[in-house]
Amino acid sequence: MKKMANRLVPAILAMAMVLATGTVGLAGHHGTHKEKKTGILLVAFGSSETSAQVSFENIDRKVKAAWPDVPVYWAYTSRIIRHKLAKQGKHLDSPAMALARMADEQFTHVAVQSLHTIAGAEYHDVRRVVGAFKSMGVFDKIILGHPLLATQTAMEKAVDALFEMIPAERKKQEAVVFMGHGTHHPANAFYPALMFQAQQRDPLVFIGAVEGYPEIDEIHSWLAEKKIKTAWLLPFMSVAGDHAKNDMAGDEDDSWKSILMGAGIQCHTVLKGTAEYDSFVHIWLSHLKEVLVHFNGS
Ligand code: CO
Repeated sequence: MKKMANRLVPAILAMAMVLATGTVGLAGHHGTHKEKKTGILLVAFGSSETSAQVSFENIDRKVKAAWPDVPVYWAYTSRIIRHKLAKQGKHLDSPAMALARMADEQFTHVAVQSLHTIAGAEYHDVRRVVGAFKSMGVFDKIILGHPLLATQTAMEKAVDALFEMIPAERKKQEAVVFMGHGTHHPANAFYPALMFQAQQRDPLVFIGAVEGYPEIDEIHSWLAEKKIKTAWLLPFMSVAGDHAKNDMAGDEDDSWKSILMGAGIQCHTVLKGTAEYDSFVHIWLSHLKEVLVHFNGS
């Protein structure tokens, strides 16, 4: 027994040394001491409308200009839109697919920036995916940035940006009606919260929602109460896509334009998404900046 142990000791030591050197040698290879590599993942709901691409291109340009050394990736949360685009030969990742790709490309620090307007269902889906990647430990750090409407500072900046969207031709006695998307999610409250703050500055500015509160019927009754003769309709969505073109400015009977015109209110429509305006893009970028400062020195 003793004899065997004596003979085994050198063998074990040799094996341990091989393993140890092997391990040391592999450290660089397998990335135990991975070099810091920071990446940005921009996550939007998505749009299949070609005209909506100007919004995304504007954001993409601004992000790349602000952080020229950081690679920028994109993901769309809407599966329907991703599949629609795939049929046109355009590939877009889901947030999970994009993060898996970034993990494979050895990113260590990932800033995920939501390009959503509110922290609704889509945002919380992204949050769950980010949480899953965080618990897998594939990145040293992964942080999700706030959507457009979040802190009070962002709300105030959003009010400023809303007023910058209003065409100069709009007269003081004319109403301005923004069409937000709206949601069944509790975060829908951000729309009336923003409207309240906008109305402190101009009581004829309204923010409605196509799939939430306040609905066009409420907006209409408020306009009637104030005896409004003319209204400007603008989308309060990052892209002027299907909702803006059809539900807001379309000629169908149930579009906001038709409903208000039917009530004797003259309508002017503007088809430009919030992401086409720098003042809004700056708010998203300020949230992304907050995430990226967390990566300094870590
Ligand atoms: Co919708």
